[in-house]
Amino acid sequence: MKRLYRVELAIKLADRVYEYWIRAPQVAQHARAGQFLILRLHERGERIPLTISAVRGDAVRVIFMAVGKTTQELATLRAGDSIMDVAGPLGRPSEIARYGTCCVVGGGVGIAGTPLIAEELKRAGNHVIGIIGARSADLLVLEDEMRGICDELYVTTDDGSRGAHGFAADVLKRLLGERVIDCVWIIGPAIMMKITSGVTAPYGVKTYVSLNPIMVDGTGMCGSCRVTVGGETKFACVDGPEFDAHQVDFVELMQRQRIYTGQEKISLERYAEHQCRCGEGGGSHG
Ligand SMILES: Cc1cc2nc3c(=O)[nH]c(=O)nc-3n(C[C@H](O)[C@H](O)[C@H](O)COP(=O)(O)OP(=O)(O)OC[C@H]3O[C@@H](n4cnc5c(N)ncnc54)[C@H](O)[C@@H]3O)c2cc1C
Ligand code: FES
Repeated sequence: MKRLYRVELAIKLADRVYEYWIRAPQVAQHARAGQFLILRLHERGERIPLTISAVRGDAVRVIFMAVGKTTQELATLRAGDSIMDVAGPLGRPSEIARYGTCCVVGGGVGIAGTPLIAEELKRAGNHVIGIIGARSADLLVLEDEMRGICDELYVTTDDGSRGAHGFAADVLKRLLGERVIDCVWIIGPAIMMKITSGVTAPYGVKTYVSLNPIMVDGTGMCGSCRVTVGGETKFACVDGPEFDAHQVDFVELMQRQRIYTGQEKISLERYAEHQCRCGEGGGSHG
């Protein structure tokens, strides 16, 4: 079996969080902020979507949390290993324009999607404020990179171990009370995007969220990524993944994300058993 997409760099950033640079020239050449790729590790692997977090030459960066079978298997790869398929860039790019003052909010592993958006907004002439938040300091990623891109950066942790104690939504709420913000991007877990976009709604600020429903083909054919936005059915893979936050049915999104919980658990258990039998489990990254 010929494996085509080489992992050039594999770094463990935090507990269960990894940064990989994958050589994928066709993706790197066309990638824009807000887009994602779909990878498949091997012939029997499932397809999983990951946000394109950065581009350097022929390589793209993904940052992922090892939450289930495929992401745990991905986390066992080392620099020099290869991935069978990488399709992309997929999805519509972020709607970058000269808005004025923009806020880019990232939560947890969702921070992965913030640098490209912040960079493109900056290039378009905006004043860019970054807000990144995580449960604790050890789970916070890309702080230095975002500090280098944004005009201002605010950091929060749920437990107060770094930056302000609390949520990104708290900082956003304070800023909205103090000054005019023209446009907001929010990327993170569905519940975080729901709560944080609730903060911008009373101010009528245009707010984009990057939706993360279950995806399979990524081309609008299978319907698994169906979401409801403004009462209409949309496919996040081709119509999104970014949508007007104030129009999104987050309750439905979160319900649909849990559809395969039983199967995912079984799949992870089988994978863990297989790993135990084979005595694998991954060595060090770096
Ligand atoms: C557009 C998009 C961009 C994403 N970007 C990132 C990223 O940059 N970093 C990151 O860590 N995660 C990202 N995700 C989520 C990532 O795809 C899932 O964590 C991954 O598919 C889980 O697979 P698994 O087999 O390891 O876990 P599983 O045990 O199979 O699933 C764990 C949870 O992940 C979600 N999930 C499972 N399969 C899929 C799938 N095929 N598509 C989408 N979600 C799924 C479900 O909510 C599920 O409950 C993104 C999702 C989307 C839709
Ligand atoms: S992933 Fe199949 S339609 Fe979007």
